[in-house]
Amino acid sequence: MDTPKKLTPALIFIFGGSGDLNYRKLTPALYNLFIDGLMPEKFTIVGMARSEYPGDAYIKHLQEGIHNFSRRKDDAKWNEFSGHISYLPLDVADVKGYEQIVTLVNDKKKEFGEQPVIIFYMAVAPQLVPTIVKNLGAVKICEEAMTTRIVVEKPFGHDLKSAHEVNSLLAEYFEEQQIFRIDHFLGKETVQNILALRFANALFEPIWNRHFIEYVQITASETVGVEGRGGYYETSGALRDMVQNHILQLLCMIAMEAPVSFDPNEIRNKKVDVLNALRRITKEEVQQYAVRGQYSDGWMHGEKIPGYRQEKEVAPDSRTETFAAVKFYVENWRWQGVPFYVRTGKHMHEKTTVLTIQFKPAPNYAFPKEAAETWRPNRLTISIQPEMDICLRFQAKSPGQNMSLRPVDMVFNYKDEYEGEEPEAYETLLFDIMEGDATLFMRADQVEAAWKILMPVIEVWQERPPSDFPNYPPDSWGPEDAEALIARDGHNWIMKPTKHTSK
Ligand code: BG6
Repeated sequence: MDTPKKLTPALIFIFGGSGDLNYRKLTPALYNLFIDGLMPEKFTIVGMARSEYPGDAYIKHLQEGIHNFSRRKDDAKWNEFSGHISYLPLDVADVKGYEQIVTLVNDKKKEFGEQPVIIFYMAVAPQLVPTIVKNLGAVKICEEAMTTRIVVEKPFGHDLKSAHEVNSLLAEYFEEQQIFRIDHFLGKETVQNILALRFANALFEPIWNRHFIEYVQITASETVGVEGRGGYYETSGALRDMVQNHILQLLCMIAMEAPVSFDPNEIRNKKVDVLNALRRITKEEVQQYAVRGQYSDGWMHGEKIPGYRQEKEVAPDSRTETFAAVKFYVENWRWQGVPFYVRTGKHMHEKTTVLTIQFKPAPNYAFPKEAAETWRPNRLTISIQPEMDICLRFQAKSPGQNMSLRPVDMVFNYKDEYEGEEPEAYETLLFDIMEGDATLFMRADQVEAAWKILMPVIEVWQERPPSDFPNYPPDSWGPEDAEALIARDGHNWIMKPTKHTSK
C-alpha cells in the first residue's frame, strides 16, 4: 500500500450512507487512506439513504464516527477530507431517484476532466441489494465494465440456492470483474501475510503436506455476544456468519497450492480448488463432523449477561447456534487424511483468531527417556488477532550437564517489527476496489462452493432441533461436544501460546 502513484479519480456512492457500516468502517477507512495520501487527488463520496440531514448534519454525524472508530482523529485532516463528501437523500425503491445519480456522474466527469472509477457500495441490508441493482440497471449506469464497480457485503445469500440467485442477478447487470464481494477477513494484514509466509519462503513448502502435518486448527472465538444484532443473527447463526466465509477463506489460504502469479483470478482459482476438494459430508455423517452450541446466561468478566434466547429480537426457544465446530478434510494429494478442525463462537473465553499447524512427531529414539519427557512436536501458530504474530515451536536443549529437551518458541511479532499501526481491513479493501484489484474479494464460484460444502450441515441442523440448547456458559470454550469432536481423533483444541512459551 505504499507505492505513491497517480490514482484514477473516484466517485463513490454509498447506499446505506446513514448506516452503521459507513459510520464505523467505511468513512473511517476512506479518511485514513486520505491521511496516508492513498486517495486519488480527485474524488467524491456520496452518502445515500432515506433520512434527511439538514445543513452539515451528515458531515457532523460522520465526524462523530471518526471520533469513535477511526484509528486517527485529526480534525484538520477531517475538514479537508469532508469537503469531498456529500449527501443525497434517496429512496432505493424509487427508480426515478436514480436519475440524480446519472446526473451526478455526468457532472463529475466534467469536473474531473476524465472518466472516474465509479463505485456503488451496498452498505445496506441484503434484501435491498436486488432492488438497487435492478434500478441501477434501469438507468443504464453499470455498463462501463472497466470503470464501474459494485461492492457487496456478506451475507451472500442464505444458502446455496439463494447465493446462486444473488449471483445470477448481479451477473445480469455486471460482469464478474466489476463485482467486489467483501470478506473483511481477507483485508486483515495478518491474513494477507499467510501468503507471504507460505510462498515467499522456501522453508515451509517441502513440509506443508500430509507427510509432515498431523492436523490444522482454526479458532475464531469472540468474547462479544450478538451485540444487538439478534434480528440478523436469528437468520444466520455461527455457521453462516463465520464458517461459510471467513473461516473457509482462512482454510483455503492454508491449504491452497502455490499460485503461479498474483493475478486475482489465479489466486482465486487456487482457493476454489481447495473448496472443491473438501470432503462432502453426508447428512448421516453430520453428527460426527459438526457440533453446534448456544450460550446460556451467565457471567462474563464479572458482569451478568443474558443467554442468547433472552437477547433482543431472538426467539425464546431459538435453535440458532452461536457456536460451531466442524472437521474438514481436503481430499487431494497434499492433504489426504489431514483433519482441519475449525471452531467459532460468541461469548467465549477469549477473543482470538488463530491458525495452528501441528506437525507430526519427530522420531526421538536417540534421546534418553528422561531427556524427552517434555518433548513436543513442532507447531506453527499464526495469530491473526488481537495478537499479530507467527510462532514456531521447536525443541531445544535445556542448559545444564544433562541432555534434557524443552520446547521453545521462535516468534515474529508485528508490533515489535514494524512501527506505527497497520491499516484496518477496510482500508486495504477500499484501496483495492479503487484500484480494481479483486484478489482479496470473493468470486461467485468461491461463494457457491463454500455454501455447497456446508449445505448438509445446515439442512441437518434445520431438520433436527437441538435437544440441549443452551449448552455452553459464557466465558467458556463452547460445548463439551466440541471437545469430544476432536478428542475422538486423539487430539485437543490448542490454546495459543501465552507470552510465547508453549509448554
Ligand atoms: C462479521 C460477523 O462478519 O465478523 C460478526 O458478522 C463477527 O458476527 C465479525 O463479530 C468478526 O469480525 P472481527 O474482524 O471483529 O474478527
